[in-house]
Amino acid sequence: MGESKKNIMNIEKFLQGLWENYISYTPSAEKISKLFGERVINDHIAFRTFNLNKCNIHKQADFLSSYGYKVCGDYFFEQKRLQAIHLENNDPVHPKIFLSELICEDFTDELRIIINDISDSFSDNPEDLLIGGRTWDIDYDKYELLAKESEYASWLYIWGFCPNHFTVSVNHLTNFNELSDVNNMIKNEGFLLNSSGGEIKGSIAELLEQSSTMADKVKVDFGSSATEIPSCYYEFAKRYPEANGNLYQGFVAKSADKIFESTNK
Ligand code: NI
Repeated sequence: MGESKKNIMNIEKFLQGLWENYISYTPSAEKISKLFGERVINDHIAFRTFNLNKCNIHKQADFLSSYGYKVCGDYFFEQKRLQAIHLENNDPVHPKIFLSELICEDFTDELRIIINDISDSFSDNPEDLLIGGRTWDIDYDKYELLAKESEYASWLYIWGFCPNHFTVSVNHLTNFNELSDVNNMIKNEGFLLNSSGGEIKGSIAELLEQSSTMADKVKVDFGSSATEIPSCYYEFAKRYPEANGNLYQGFVAKSADKIFESTNK
């Protein structure tokens, strides 16, 4: 078997594993994916991490290069203090991957001490930086402290390394044409959309329109107590062609900034 054929088989198994992990704490995504009544093609899968040596986005990207992914764009989120990159696969049938990381040095000592403490338990296996979940004990007061400084940090503290969202490619749907039609179907089925900055983020002029559900809430055990915490959300994207006729493949930071808020309490 040739090397490339082996990679193709591996990547399908890898992506399926990511989906199964994701729907285990995002049950609404599985329900919505079935409502389309057709095979859903993903536009991208997104992850969150910290900019530490052990787990940063470049380490994740190195691992993904073995599946044929390469870095094709970078982004900066000034207010949330995040930097990000997006990766595309040699075979465009596979979803893009969006990797973001928290710039830890821009936060207080308290936040950095908590993150440093949990980083002792981070796995050395690079695959675990995408799907390994949480390998540390959690404490409700620390969660609250992190949430005050960065919702992103508090989310990572609870959920660990796992897909943050999958994104349906509306361009590939045959039963729906417009993102607004997808949004209406989802609302009619009783799901809540993120309306921060309007239900549709981005515009035709920006070549990318996106919307997302609000994250599911899942009961999390803190030892002495249990609390419902936002887990993950499902996203929908419609892309428009550039001057050369090809669909734009990048991301719009201003839109993604609002989409990050889908895991707000
Ligand atoms: Ni996204």
